[in-house]
Amino acid sequence: MDTNVQKRRENKKSLRVKVISLGNAEVGKSCIIKRYCEKRFVPKYLATIGIDYGVTKVQVRDREIKVNIFDMAGHPFFYEVRNEFYKDSQGVILVYDVGLRESFDALDSWLTEMKQEMGSQANMENIIFVVCANKVDLTKRRVVDESEGKLWAESRGFHYFETSAQSGEGINEMFQSFFSSITDMCENGGKRPTPEVNVGFTKEQADTIRRIRSSKDSWDMLGVKPGATREEVNKAYRKLAVLLHPDKCVAPGSEDAFKAVVNARTSLLKNIN
Ligand code: GTP
Ligand code: MG
Repeated sequence: MDTNVQKRRENKKSLRVKVISLGNAEVGKSCIIKRYCEKRFVPKYLATIGIDYGVTKVQVRDREIKVNIFDMAGHPFFYEVRNEFYKDSQGVILVYDVGLRESFDALDSWLTEMKQEMGSQANMENIIFVVCANKVDLTKRRVVDESEGKLWAESRGFHYFETSAQSGEGINEMFQSFFSSITDMCENGGKRPTPEVNVGFTKEQADTIRRIRSSKDSWDMLGVKPGATREEVNKAYRKLAVLLHPDKCVAPGSEDAFKAVVNARTSLLKNIN
């Protein structure tokens, strides 16, 4: 075959992408990458200093993908070093530790930092995000459950995986799905194909479940003022029941939220004449 034709074919098939890892210090970003690339786990904590850089080659369908991985340091001290590296990423691995609530709560601020650093280039729509709920092997210390993590991820159109760099659980699945979505996006002219994740639930449902989870008492849960009448409680209950009924709502955590609303109504009505 003509060597130029052959070269053109090879070029079409090979792809170069940039991915970054984000999340608080010590959540396991480097270990997840090491588990995938080197098939091993390092129990000792070696904080990433600024940035670690590595390259790996993967095969997605008929394409060879050269992946440049920029593994960020999570510690605030390294902000000045890592802020240079957000630009031109096609994929982001967002990691939190299921045993540390603050690392889950910090995901929003990682997105904010990224947006800020990308400035005018900030088109977050055309980046593939994957969320790793990491350290699931440490079941006893778990404080963020699957439905809460899934809800956060899927309501933003991000993929969600339960992972353990220690046991390897979820790691290959996560990377395979991540690289395949990035390849789909590149083949679609750099635009994230829609819908990337077919969530099947509304923002109102997701927000309501989050609000119910963080409500301080039964009044608050039903969204009525303390001392509300029987009628007001029933009206609020009916609205929430329609929104969250497990037959109608597939959002992660909807079943528990629905049960909590039923219990809240029962306990309030007991004390209202
Ligand atoms: P920075 O580089 O400081 O941002 O931290 P990091 O997010 O890269 O964390 P790293 O991968 O260095 O892991 C932190 C600690 O958590 C290490 O002691 C790891 O051995 C441990 N660790 C990482 N992943 C897991 C996991 O899935 N399970 C368990 N049990 N420990 C883990
Ligand atoms: Mg690290």
